Amino acid sequence: MEQERLQKYLASAGVASRRASETLMKEGRVSVNGKIVTELGTKVTPGVDKVLVDGKPVQQEEELVYILMNKPAGYVTTVKDTHDRMTVMDLLTDVPYRVFPVGRLDFETEGLLLLTNDGEFAYRMTHPKFKMVKTYVATVQGNVTDERLAMLRNGVQLEDGMTAPAQVNIIRRENHKTVVEIAIHEGRNRQVRRMFKAVKNPVLELKRISIGPLTLKGVGVGEYRYLQGAELKKTGQRLGLHLTDSRGTN
Ligand code: URA
Repeated sequence: MEQERLQKYLASAGVASRRASETLMKEGRVSVNGKIVTELGTKVTPGVDKVLVDGKPVQQEEELVYILMNKPAGYVTTVKDTHDRMTVMDLLTDVPYRVFPVGRLDFETEGLLLLTNDGEFAYRMTHPKFKMVKTYVATVQGNVTDERLAMLRNGVQLEDGMTAPAQVNIIRRENHKTVVEIAIHEGRNRQVRRMFKAVKNPVLELKRISIGPLTLKGVGVGEYRYLQGAELKKTGQRLGLHLTDSRGTN
């Protein structure tokens, strides 16, 4: 994260105006990491440096950030795993925000995963009422016959009820395998795997390739990037949220 001038930091945290913050500094009332700072050119790293005014910590509201990751198989989608497995958080180097995963991809599932520190965004992204379409490519065992295809499209009976209609298209048929694209908006636990199991074509490999307007373009497996500009705005519009790029790249 970028450094900023201490007086700007104090002003954006609502301590006082920039001018008045400079006065506070000159009066020796501001400390950074335990040292009184009177030098007006001093810079701090928000979220990293400990800034106190009159001995009290300054609460900086964390800026809201949105990260798009291409999750590899073999990582759990939690902040901390109880079995000490690698989590998606281990892939984030150099992210000074307290982000968390939006929804879940299974341990063995690859592909597009969002992380954020914006609770409302995460809620809307995953709640079925916002109908955010998630598209997967599934390699499944056996031949997905026309009859099974129709079942997947119309809704299949799972133990937690019928699935909503889905868009399902065959990408190609291979020896004893079928590669299928499936778009759903419900996001129940292990939904895609359970849907294919229900039609007797168990999933061998699963990858999420898009969520709404967001795709994996340019993001290699294990890599991530911040959402910005127009894509963020567009995603927000679909969710009824006004999302802006507070990291200044927009
Ligand atoms: N459906 C699944 O079965 N697994 C995932 O990881 C995501 C959707």
